[in-house]
Amino acid sequence: METLKNRIQGLRDQFAQAAPQVLDQAALQELRNLYLSRKKGHLTQLFELMKGLAPEQKPAAGQEVNSFKQYVQSELDRLEKELQAPSRSGPSVDLTLPGRASYWGAPHPVLLIKERIEQIFLRMGFSIEDGPEMETDFYNFEALNFPPHHPARDDWDTLYIDDDLLLRTHTSPVQIRVMEKKKPPIRMINPGKVFRKETPDPTHLPMFFQVEGLVVDHGITFAHLKGTLEYFLKALYHDSIKIRFRPSFFPFTEPSAEVDIGCTVCNGEEDDCRVCKGTGWLEILGAGMVDPQVFKNVNIDPEKYSGFAFGMGVERTAMFSFQIPDLRYFYENDLRFIRQFSKK
Ligand code: DAH
Repeated sequence: METLKNRIQGLRDQFAQAAPQVLDQAALQELRNLYLSRKKGHLTQLFELMKGLAPEQKPAAGQEVNSFKQYVQSELDRLEKELQAPSRSGPSVDLTLPGRASYWGAPHPVLLIKERIEQIFLRMGFSIEDGPEMETDFYNFEALNFPPHHPARDDWDTLYIDDDLLLRTHTSPVQIRVMEKKKPPIRMINPGKVFRKETPDPTHLPMFFQVEGLVVDHGITFAHLKGTLEYFLKALYHDSIKIRFRPSFFPFTEPSAEVDIGCTVCNGEEDDCRVCKGTGWLEILGAGMVDPQVFKNVNIDPEKYSGFAFGMGVERTAMFSFQIPDLRYFYENDLRFIRQFSKK
C-alpha cells in the first residue's frame, strides 16, 4: 500500500513539472498518453499494481488511484482550455501589417575622410595630437609670426571672445603647442575644428575641419615635404592623380606653397566644369618649410633643426572625393545626404 502511495506521489510531482512545459497540442497529447494511455499509461499501471494488493486494502487504494486520475484529467482539461485561449493559441500581432523600419546610423562624410587621412599618416609613423578650439592671440597669430595689426591677419578674421581670446582660425597653433611640449624629432598631425568670420556659401563655411601636419628633425628639406604630400595624395585619391606645387605665402613658413590636384570631377577636360571652373586644378592644401622665426618662438634652434608643415581643409577634401558641389550640404543635417556615404 505504501509503495502505491509513494508511486502516486512521484507521478503527481512529475506531472506538475511537465504541465507548464506544454505549449502546443502535440505536447498536450504526449502528456495525456503518458498518463492515460490504456496500454502503457501510468494510470493503467497503477490499476495493475492494485490487483496485487490484499482485498481489505483495495478500497482505500482504489480511492487514491481514482483521485489521482481525476487530478490528471482536470489538469489536462485546464491545459487544453489554455491552449485554445487567444493568448496561447497564436500570435496576437497582425502579421500582415508592414514592419517598422529600424534606422541604421551612417558615418558623416567629413568623419569618413578625416579617418582616412589619419590612417594614411599613422601608416607613415605620424602621431595624432590635439589642441583647444578657443585660442589666445599668441598661439593663433603671434607665435606663428603674424605681428599685431599685420595685414596677413585680415584673411583670418574670426569670432573674438575678448581682446585676447578667439575661436582658432586654423589648426596651425597646435604646431606651437606641440613644439613647446616635445623636442624633435616631431612627426604629428592634428585634426580639428576651426572658425572664420564667413557667410556660408557653396565654398565657405564659418566652421569647418582642418588637418594640420608638422615634421621637425635634423636635415628635413623641401624634398621630404614633397615626397610626403605626394605619397599622401596618391593614397587618398589614386596613384595617377596629378599634383602641382605653386609658390605662395604664409607668415609661418618660408618658402610656402599651395598644393593643387588635377580636378577629380572633369579631369581637366571640361571648360565649364563647376568644380575647377575650367582650370583643371583644385587647391587642396597649404604647406611650407617652418620659418626660422617660428622655431625661435618655441626655443628650437633653427641652425640645428628644420621642418615642414602643412594644413588642409577636410570638407574640401571630402568635396573632391565625393564630388559634392556645395559645402553647406555637410551641415544641413539632411539624412538623405548623409546616408549616401555609408558603406553598409
Ligand atoms: N593654416 C593655413 C590656413 O588655414 C594652412 C596652412 C598653410 C597650414 C601652410 C600650414 C602651412 O601648416 O604650412 O589657411
